[in-house]
Amino acid sequence: MSRIAYVNGAYVPMSDAYVHIEDRGYQFADGVYEGITVASGKLIDLEPHLDRLERSLRELQIAMPMGRRAMTFVFKETVRRNRLANAFLYIQVTRGVAKRDHPFPANSSSTLVVTARRLDLAAVKSRASIGINVSSQPDIRWGRCDVKSISLLPNILAKQAAREAGGFEAVMYDKDGYVTEGSSTNIWMVTKDGTLVTRSTDDNILPGITRATLMQMAKDLQMQVETRAFKVEEAKSAAEMFLTSSTSCTMPIVKFDDTVIGGGTPGPAATRLAEAYWAYIEG
Ligand code: PDD
Repeated sequence: MSRIAYVNGAYVPMSDAYVHIEDRGYQFADGVYEGITVASGKLIDLEPHLDRLERSLRELQIAMPMGRRAMTFVFKETVRRNRLANAFLYIQVTRGVAKRDHPFPANSSSTLVVTARRLDLAAVKSRASIGINVSSQPDIRWGRCDVKSISLLPNILAKQAAREAGGFEAVMYDKDGYVTEGSSTNIWMVTKDGTLVTRSTDDNILPGITRATLMQMAKDLQMQVETRAFKVEEAKSAAEMFLTSSTSCTMPIVKFDDTVIGGGTPGPAATRLAEAYWAYIEG
Protein backbone atom coordinates (compact mmCIF):
# COMPACT_ATOMS: atom_id res chain seq x y z
CA MET A 1 0.00 0.00 0.00
CA SER A 2 1.44 3.40 -0.91
CA ARG A 3 1.79 5.96 1.83
CA ILE A 4 -0.62 8.88 1.87
CA ALA A 5 0.32 12.46 2.70
CA TYR A 6 -1.87 15.46 3.40
CA VAL A 7 -0.74 18.48 1.38
CA ASN A 8 -2.68 21.75 1.48
CA GLY A 9 -6.18 20.35 1.47
CA ALA A 10 -5.70 17.00 -0.31
CA TYR A 11 -4.75 13.46 0.68
CA VAL A 12 -2.38 12.22 -1.99
CA PRO A 13 -0.03 9.28 -2.52
CA MET A 14 3.50 10.19 -1.42
CA SER A 15 4.71 9.89 -5.01
CA ASP A 16 2.35 12.75 -5.98
CA ALA A 17 2.87 14.86 -2.87
CA TYR A 18 4.59 18.10 -3.80
CA VAL A 19 5.01 21.66 -2.64
CA HIS A 20 6.01 24.59 -4.85
CA ILE A 21 9.76 25.23 -5.34
CA GLU A 22 9.22 28.78 -4.10
CA ASP A 23 7.73 27.61 -0.84
CA ARG A 24 9.55 29.60 1.85
CA GLY A 25 10.09 26.41 3.80
CA TYR A 26 12.17 25.07 0.92
CA GLN A 27 14.04 28.31 0.24
CA PHE A 28 14.47 29.83 3.72
CA ALA A 29 13.52 27.09 6.22
CA ASP A 30 10.79 29.61 7.09
CA GLY A 31 8.49 27.28 8.97
CA VAL A 32 7.92 25.08 11.98
CA TYR A 33 7.09 21.46 12.66
CA GLU A 34 5.72 19.03 15.21
CA GLY A 35 6.22 15.31 15.65
CA ILE A 36 3.61 13.26 17.48
CA THR A 37 3.79 9.62 18.48
CA VAL A 38 0.77 7.52 17.71
CA ALA A 39 0.47 4.42 19.90
CA SER A 40 -2.33 1.92 19.23
CA GLY A 41 -4.08 4.62 17.20
CA LYS A 42 -3.93 7.19 20.01
CA LEU A 43 -2.21 10.55 19.44
CA ILE A 44 0.00 10.91 22.50
CA ASP A 45 -0.13 14.34 24.17
CA LEU A 46 -2.04 15.84 21.23
CA GLU A 47 -3.16 19.00 23.05
CA PRO A 48 0.33 20.06 24.27
CA HIS A 49 1.67 19.40 20.77
CA LEU A 50 -1.02 21.65 19.31
CA ASP A 51 -0.25 24.28 21.94
CA ARG A 52 3.44 24.20 21.03
CA LEU A 53 2.64 24.36 17.29
CA GLU A 54 0.43 27.39 17.84
CA ARG A 55 3.11 29.04 19.94
CA SER A 56 5.90 28.39 17.41
CA LEU A 57 3.73 29.84 14.64
CA ARG A 58 2.76 32.84 16.73
CA GLU A 59 6.40 33.60 17.57
CA LEU A 60 7.21 33.67 13.83
CA GLN A 61 3.97 35.45 12.84
CA ILE A 62 2.93 32.58 10.58
CA ALA A 63 -0.82 32.00 10.37
CA MET A 64 -2.30 28.73 11.69
CA PRO A 65 -3.37 27.03 8.45
CA MET A 66 -6.68 25.94 10.04
CA GLY A 67 -8.30 25.69 13.45
CA ARG A 68 -7.31 23.08 16.05
CA ARG A 69 -10.37 20.90 15.48
CA ALA A 70 -9.88 20.78 11.73
CA MET A 71 -6.20 20.09 12.20
CA THR A 72 -6.90 17.27 14.64
CA PHE A 73 -9.21 15.77 12.05
CA VAL A 74 -6.45 15.94 9.40
CA PHE A 75 -3.95 14.29 11.77
CA LYS A 76 -6.32 11.42 12.56
CA GLU A 77 -7.37 11.04 8.96
CA THR A 78 -3.74 10.84 7.82
CA VAL A 79 -3.08 8.07 10.34
CA ARG A 80 -6.28 6.28 9.31
CA ARG A 81 -5.57 6.47 5.59
CA ASN A 82 -2.11 5.03 6.16
CA ARG A 83 -3.64 2.21 8.24
CA LEU A 84 -1.14 2.66 11.04
CA ALA A 85 -1.52 1.70 14.69
CA ASN A 86 1.91 2.88 15.88
CA ALA A 87 3.23 5.83 13.95
CA PHE A 88 5.28 8.98 13.89
CA LEU A 89 3.03 11.80 12.71
CA TYR A 90 4.97 14.66 11.14
CA ILE A 91 3.37 18.09 10.75
CA GLN A 92 5.05 20.95 8.92
CA VAL A 93 3.73 24.47 8.49
CA THR A 94 5.61 27.07 6.44
CA ARG A 95 4.93 30.68 5.58
CA GLY A 96 3.87 29.54 2.12
CA VAL A 97 4.75 30.34 -1.46
CA ALA A 98 6.12 33.73 -2.56
CA LYS A 99 8.74 35.24 -4.84
CA ARG A 100 12.09 34.84 -3.09
CA ASP A 101 12.60 37.91 -0.90
CA HIS A 102 13.62 37.97 2.75
CA PRO A 103 10.84 40.07 4.35
CA PHE A 104 7.49 38.42 5.05
CA PRO A 105 5.38 38.40 1.87
CA ALA A 106 2.32 40.66 1.92
CA ASN A 107 -0.08 37.85 1.14
CA SER A 108 0.87 34.24 1.24
CA SER A 109 -1.03 31.40 2.84
CA SER A 110 0.62 28.86 5.09
CA THR A 111 1.56 25.50 3.62
CA LEU A 112 0.48 22.50 5.70
CA VAL A 113 1.97 19.05 5.13
CA VAL A 114 1.17 16.03 7.31
CA THR A 115 2.76 12.61 6.92
CA ALA A 116 2.68 9.43 8.98
CA ARG A 117 5.15 6.59 9.00
CA ARG A 118 5.26 3.37 10.94
CA LEU A 119 6.97 3.63 14.31
CA ASP A 120 8.43 0.42 15.69
CA LEU A 121 7.69 0.94 19.36
CA ALA A 122 8.84 -2.61 20.19
CA ALA A 123 12.28 -1.70 18.79
CA VAL A 124 12.35 1.50 20.87
CA LYS A 125 11.46 -0.52 23.97
CA SER A 126 14.10 -3.11 23.27
CA ARG A 127 16.77 -0.43 22.73
CA ALA A 128 15.68 1.18 26.02
CA SER A 129 16.25 -2.10 27.86
CA ILE A 130 19.93 -1.96 26.84
CA GLY A 131 20.52 1.80 26.78
CA ILE A 132 22.39 3.92 24.28
CA ASN A 133 25.72 5.66 23.81
CA VAL A 134 25.84 9.43 23.30
CA SER A 135 28.50 11.82 22.12
CA SER A 136 29.13 15.42 23.25
CA GLN A 137 28.96 17.98 20.45
CA PRO A 138 29.11 21.79 20.54
CA ASP A 139 25.76 23.55 20.27
CA ILE A 140 26.07 25.98 17.36
CA ARG A 141 22.37 26.90 17.12
CA TRP A 142 20.66 30.29 17.32
CA GLY A 143 19.05 32.05 20.27
CA ARG A 144 15.47 30.89 19.68
CA CYS A 145 15.69 27.15 20.24
CA ASP A 146 12.33 27.35 22.02
CA VAL A 147 10.73 27.65 18.56
CA LYS A 148 10.39 24.28 16.80
CA SER A 149 11.84 25.59 13.56
CA ILE A 150 12.45 23.40 10.52
CA SER A 151 15.87 25.03 10.26
CA LEU A 152 17.72 22.01 11.64
CA LEU A 153 21.16 22.15 10.03
CA PRO A 154 23.10 22.46 13.33
CA ASN A 155 21.06 19.59 14.78
CA ILE A 156 21.75 17.45 11.71
CA LEU A 157 25.49 18.17 11.86
CA ALA A 158 25.58 17.36 15.57
CA LYS A 159 23.67 14.09 15.10
CA GLN A 160 25.90 13.07 12.20
CA ALA A 161 29.08 13.85 14.16
CA ALA A 162 27.68 11.81 17.07
CA ARG A 163 26.90 8.86 14.79
CA GLU A 164 30.42 8.99 13.34
CA ALA A 165 31.76 8.95 16.91
CA GLY A 166 29.69 5.84 17.70
CA GLY A 167 26.87 7.62 19.54
CA PHE A 168 23.15 7.24 18.94
CA GLU A 169 22.51 10.85 19.92
CA ALA A 170 24.50 14.08 20.27
CA VAL A 171 24.44 15.74 23.68
CA MET A 172 25.01 19.39 22.84
CA TYR A 173 26.82 21.80 25.15
CA ASP A 174 27.05 25.60 25.12
CA LYS A 175 30.22 27.74 25.10
CA ASP A 176 30.52 27.40 28.90
CA GLY A 177 30.33 23.61 28.78
CA TYR A 178 26.73 23.31 29.99
CA VAL A 179 24.54 20.66 28.40
CA THR A 180 21.73 22.25 26.40
CA GLU A 181 19.79 19.32 24.90
CA GLY A 182 20.14 16.48 22.43
CA SER A 183 20.03 17.13 18.68
CA SER A 184 16.41 15.90 18.75
CA THR A 185 15.86 15.05 22.42
CA ASN A 186 15.95 16.50 25.95
CA ILE A 187 18.73 15.35 28.27
CA TRP A 188 18.44 14.38 31.93
CA MET A 189 20.83 13.16 34.58
CA VAL A 190 20.24 11.55 37.96
CA THR A 191 22.53 12.62 40.80
CA LYS A 192 23.98 10.12 43.28
CA ASP A 193 21.23 11.05 45.77
CA GLY A 194 18.56 10.20 43.18
CA THR A 195 17.54 13.71 42.11
CA LEU A 196 16.48 14.08 38.47
CA VAL A 197 18.09 17.09 36.83
CA THR A 198 17.21 18.69 33.51
CA ARG A 199 17.80 22.12 32.02
CA SER A 200 15.12 24.79 32.33
CA THR A 201 12.96 25.41 29.28
CA ASP A 202 13.60 29.15 29.85
CA ASP A 203 17.22 28.51 28.92
CA ASN A 204 17.11 28.36 25.09
CA ILE A 205 16.04 24.76 24.57
CA LEU A 206 12.97 23.19 23.04
CA PRO A 207 10.25 22.64 25.66
CA GLY A 208 9.88 18.92 25.00
CA ILE A 209 6.41 17.50 25.41
CA THR A 210 7.80 14.15 26.60
CA ARG A 211 10.00 16.08 29.05
CA ALA A 212 6.91 17.81 30.51
CA THR A 213 4.90 14.59 30.73
CA LEU A 214 7.78 12.80 32.39
CA MET A 215 8.36 15.62 34.84
CA GLN A 216 4.77 15.26 36.01
CA MET A 217 5.16 11.48 36.25
CA ALA A 218 8.35 11.87 38.31
CA LYS A 219 6.53 14.19 40.71
CA ASP A 220 3.62 11.74 40.94
CA LEU A 221 6.15 9.01 41.79
CA GLN A 222 7.53 11.29 44.56
CA MET A 223 10.88 11.58 42.82
CA GLN A 224 12.94 14.76 43.33
CA VAL A 225 13.23 16.94 40.23
CA GLU A 226 15.55 19.89 39.86
CA THR A 227 15.50 22.22 36.84
CA ARG A 228 18.96 23.62 36.31
CA ALA A 229 21.85 23.62 33.90
CA PHE A 230 24.64 21.06 34.40
CA LYS A 231 28.01 20.64 32.79
CA VAL A 232 29.20 17.75 30.61
CA GLU A 233 31.63 16.70 33.39
CA GLU A 234 28.87 16.62 36.01
CA ALA A 235 26.75 14.42 33.73
CA LYS A 236 29.68 12.08 33.24
CA SER A 237 29.95 11.54 36.99
CA ALA A 238 26.18 11.21 37.47
CA ALA A 239 24.52 8.04 38.72
CA GLU A 240 22.35 7.84 35.60
CA MET A 241 21.55 9.66 32.42
CA PHE A 242 18.64 9.38 30.05
CA LEU A 243 16.95 11.30 27.27
CA THR A 244 13.35 11.96 26.32
CA SER A 245 11.53 12.61 23.05
CA SER A 246 8.37 11.62 21.26
CA THR A 247 10.14 8.91 19.26
CA SER A 248 12.66 7.74 21.86
CA CYS A 249 10.21 7.94 24.80
CA THR A 250 12.46 7.50 27.86
CA MET A 251 15.84 6.21 26.74
CA PRO A 252 18.58 5.34 29.25
CA ILE A 253 22.12 6.50 28.37
CA VAL A 254 24.84 4.06 29.36
CA LYS A 255 27.92 5.66 27.81
CA PHE A 256 28.77 9.34 27.31
CA ASP A 257 31.82 9.76 25.06
CA ASP A 258 34.30 7.33 26.64
CA THR A 259 32.67 7.40 30.08
CA VAL A 260 30.51 4.50 31.16
CA ILE A 261 27.43 5.76 33.02
CA GLY A 262 25.83 3.87 35.87
CA GLY A 263 27.90 0.73 35.35
CA GLY A 264 26.84 0.47 31.70
CA THR A 265 23.25 -0.62 32.26
CA PRO A 266 19.98 1.34 32.61
CA GLY A 267 19.66 2.62 36.16
CA PRO A 268 16.71 2.30 38.56
CA ALA A 269 15.35 5.85 38.12
CA ALA A 270 15.38 5.75 34.32
CA THR A 271 13.89 2.27 34.34
CA ARG A 272 11.11 3.29 36.72
CA LEU A 273 10.25 6.33 34.61
CA ALA A 274 10.44 4.35 31.38
CA GLU A 275 7.96 1.82 32.82
CA ALA A 276 5.60 4.63 33.83
CA TYR A 277 5.87 6.21 30.40
CA TRP A 278 5.24 2.93 28.57
CA ALA A 279 2.20 2.27 30.75
CA TYR A 280 0.97 5.78 29.88
CA ILE A 281 1.28 5.42 26.12
CA GLU A 282 0.18 1.81 25.96
CA GLY A 283 -2.60 2.16 28.53
N1 PDD B 1 12.43 16.07 18.17
N2 PDD B 1 14.80 18.84 21.63
C1 PDD B 1 14.86 18.94 20.29
C2 PDD B 1 15.90 19.81 19.67
C3 PDD B 1 13.93 18.23 19.48
O1 PDD B 1 13.97 18.34 18.15
C4 PDD B 1 12.96 17.40 20.11
C5 PDD B 1 11.94 16.65 19.31
C6 PDD B 1 12.97 17.31 21.51
C7 PDD B 1 11.98 16.47 22.27
O2 PDD B 1 10.68 17.02 22.17
P1 PDD B 1 9.37 16.12 22.29
O3 PDD B 1 9.44 15.41 23.58
O4 PDD B 1 8.26 17.11 22.26
O5 PDD B 1 9.39 15.16 21.12
C8 PDD B 1 13.89 18.06 22.24
C9 PDD B 1 11.54 15.39 17.25
C10 PDD B 1 11.12 14.04 17.76
C11 PDD B 1 12.17 15.35 15.88
O6 PDD B 1 12.90 16.29 15.55
O7 PDD B 1 11.94 14.42 15.13
